[in-house]
Amino acid sequence: KTIFLKEYQVPDFLIDRTHLKVEIFDGHTIVTSTLAIRRNPESQNSAAPLLMQGQEIDIQSITLNGEPLSSGQYTVGDESLLVNTVPDTFEWVCVGKITPESNTSLEGLYRSKTMYCTQCEAEGFRKITYYLDRPDVMSEFTTTIVADKAHCPVLLSNGNLVEEGDDATDHTRHFATWHDPHKKPAYLFALVAGELSVIDDGFTTQSGREVQLRIFVEPKDLEKCDHAMTALKNSMRWDEEVYGREYDLDIFMIVAVDDFNMGAMENKGLNIFNTSCVLAHPQTTTDSGFQRVEGVVAHEYFHNWSGNRVTCRDWFQLSLKEGFTVFRDSEFSADMGSRTVKRIEDVNLLKNAQFAEDAGPMAHPVQPSSFIEISNFYTLTVYEKGAEVVRMLHTLLGPEVFRKGSDLYFERHDGQAVTIEDFVAAMSEVSGRDFTQFMNWYRQAGTPEVTVTSHYNAEDQTYALTFTQSCPTTPEATSEEKKPYLIPIGLGLVGDAGELRLQVKSEPVTGEPADVEQSDNTHRVLEITEPTQTVVFEGVPEAPVPSLLRNFSAPVKLHYEYGREELVALMERDSDGYNRWDASQKLAIAVIQDVVAARQNNASPEMDATLITAYGHLLAQVQESNSLLDPAMVAAMLTLPTENYLAQIAEVADVDAIHFARHFVRISVANALTAELEATYHALHTTEAYAPSAKQIAARSLKNVCLGYRALADDDMGITLAHQQFVQAENMTDGFEALKVLVHSDKPSAAPLAKQALADFYARWQEESLVVNQWFTVQATRPSQDALDHVKALQAHPAYTLKNPNKVRALVGAFCGFNPVNFHRADGEGYAFLADQIIALNTLNPQMAARMLTPLTKWKLYDENRQVLIRAQLERIRKVPTLSKDVYEVVNKSLK
Ligand code: ARG
Ligand code: ZN
Repeated sequence: KTIFLKEYQVPDFLIDRTHLKVEIFDGHTIVTSTLAIRRNPESQNSAAPLLMQGQEIDIQSITLNGEPLSSGQYTVGDESLLVNTVPDTFEWVCVGKITPESNTSLEGLYRSKTMYCTQCEAEGFRKITYYLDRPDVMSEFTTTIVADKAHCPVLLSNGNLVEEGDDATDHTRHFATWHDPHKKPAYLFALVAGELSVIDDGFTTQSGREVQLRIFVEPKDLEKCDHAMTALKNSMRWDEEVYGREYDLDIFMIVAVDDFNMGAMENKGLNIFNTSCVLAHPQTTTDSGFQRVEGVVAHEYFHNWSGNRVTCRDWFQLSLKEGFTVFRDSEFSADMGSRTVKRIEDVNLLKNAQFAEDAGPMAHPVQPSSFIEISNFYTLTVYEKGAEVVRMLHTLLGPEVFRKGSDLYFERHDGQAVTIEDFVAAMSEVSGRDFTQFMNWYRQAGTPEVTVTSHYNAEDQTYALTFTQSCPTTPEATSEEKKPYLIPIGLGLVGDAGELRLQVKSEPVTGEPADVEQSDNTHRVLEITEPTQTVVFEGVPEAPVPSLLRNFSAPVKLHYEYGREELVALMERDSDGYNRWDASQKLAIAVIQDVVAARQNNASPEMDATLITAYGHLLAQVQESNSLLDPAMVAAMLTLPTENYLAQIAEVADVDAIHFARHFVRISVANALTAELEATYHALHTTEAYAPSAKQIAARSLKNVCLGYRALADDDMGITLAHQQFVQAENMTDGFEALKVLVHSDKPSAAPLAKQALADFYARWQEESLVVNQWFTVQATRPSQDALDHVKALQAHPAYTLKNPNKVRALVGAFCGFNPVNFHRADGEGYAFLADQIIALNTLNPQMAARMLTPLTKWKLYDENRQVLIRAQLERIRKVPTLSKDVYEVVNKSLK
């Protein structure tokens, strides 16, 4: 059944207070919910029946105002409970029995290892008790948990602890009662019971509230909590300073859980995290793992305001909280580390994955207009593109006005469930701007394309740029139906002598120079609103190289015909760091595409020396003692676009030619710059103790990029260096990067070393589940031809299980998502393998099953043969008799 945004109606009933008593026994749990319900005065239907949501609940009894309801007085459907006549105000008590032990969907109340925990967003609460499970029904929650003292010494829920003690009748059991004073929708409810260790800390808010901070983990992980705790305190301070947002309870808790569908969840006062997003230790966690923990801790904390205090009216508004919160966490990470590098990482993800989503059968607007299963809409579009849309508002308004807008939004809607329109209205009000056209970013799917042409007139010293925009057809609208977007274009003009002053002769709309502050008037943000528009600059003394879409000022595909030398000029001279990186990527793409073409024409490939020269300059410069170059920037610039990205931008993706070409270019760089790479590698080595600081992370990233290249040169020196680094590494970043070089190398000399290293690595880290995941991934992404057989063999490994999402992502997800040359084997075995996994997951964990479908939704990118093979697997999945809603929706849309 498809749900439509345009059919939204206010709820017929409200639940003022929710009392839950959750009695956990070994094998089953009894949930008693006592609800104070009344008719919603705003409802259209004053005689509406009571329709509640509930799933897999064994009803023991129901009373209404103390009177038992006989089973003839209500109707239980598959996912609902209907009572035809109810008073205007009443107390509802329902006793239900559920079985968390057999709940493998990881929604609702479930058991992870020895711990009981919940995941309610989006619609998991209905697996705990019958309820009005929609975000615009907000209630004051009181929760009592009763459980065995020995197995569940720790009992947690949202809000403040009000009482705890022994069970009156059974002294082997105890209880705890939590009260959350803030009204909230059911999706923010959480409960945890288990044997957990805790680290404690505190934070004093700007107004002087003392907040207790507690992170709960398995006893063995206690020494992996410090980084998350530091990140939490930094987040709390940052949200006060940058957004004026203070925490509002006396306690803030984080719990780490090993079996979790997503990264983490912002339940009020009780965030529940995937262990992969909270645990960090130099010995077991890579630099990107550390950064991920910091980012996710911040993200969930920031939801306390953008999500919890102000929540969503319905799930079509998901990006209201997710887009805004991703923007907030990404700015936080930029402030904590290297701003430009963070920007590059975000845009890289957007271009690699969100652009692909936008171009596929699941494409949807940031504010979707319909869905079958909301879990399928926790997407890169809602999160990442949603964040880009908020960022554009920030760019258009500038930081001060944007802050005024967010203040107004939070103040006006505190305690409410609102819409994306409400958010934009606040931004519009404080700026006096009309954002009607801007709303197209929320309502139209697809990645807009902007084509730019330039004309320099030496006689009148003018320079004209013409912008033409369009947006491709997506499932719900054709290109012709789409309205033009308001596109902010950050821009500068790079001349031989430096950046030119910008004097606009004619321009449609003027934006303030935002984000990047430049007093010399060499940077500005143009606002493009028409299908075609020309901007003329005057007083331009030389034909410049345009630096367009600076800082990736809008989530569009921008096309401009750069010459390769122009790209080199931008790489070396553009004041915008993001565009220096982007130029390096454009140049690399052009060079790789040459090789792809040669390969396809059976010609011998040639390497364009332009790229090598440019890389050589970067390596030389970064080594100068007074270098201003950030090594992390150089690392990013030396990293070639992924095979997946190259496939995405190809006319017809030739996976084998792309793999060959990218590898060929890497080897050519390695052989041409052997000495420089090795020297940089050695120069960046440090004996300092590990710290996840921006400076050290930058040094390690460039060092390991150099190692990766060095190992590709014709001699064996790079392999020797990698082996040394693997053996001597004192942190996981260096150890893992070296392992990857050995395992992914196709050199005969590397094979025995790789084999031994994999064995040693497993032997050393077998007790560390998150490290074992990395061990699976490094093997799953191996380019060698036997990769699929290897992955199948690893499925039988004792450490592997289909029931743990992290394990599935580490092995199956990594193989299908990041080993394109093997996943897309011409015999279709990769596709059949993935379909098998999806069919198995469909019954176990529908949400995961649907997520794993992503690589199969991209069939249009590939050649005829592969299209047929992929579609055959999609058809096979579609025929499964008990297909979950989640899988059904993605498979059906993919086959349309
Ligand atoms: N709201 C969470 C976050 O972004 C994600 C939870 C999504 N859960 C789900 N089952 N779809 O922080
Ligand atoms: Zn979120």
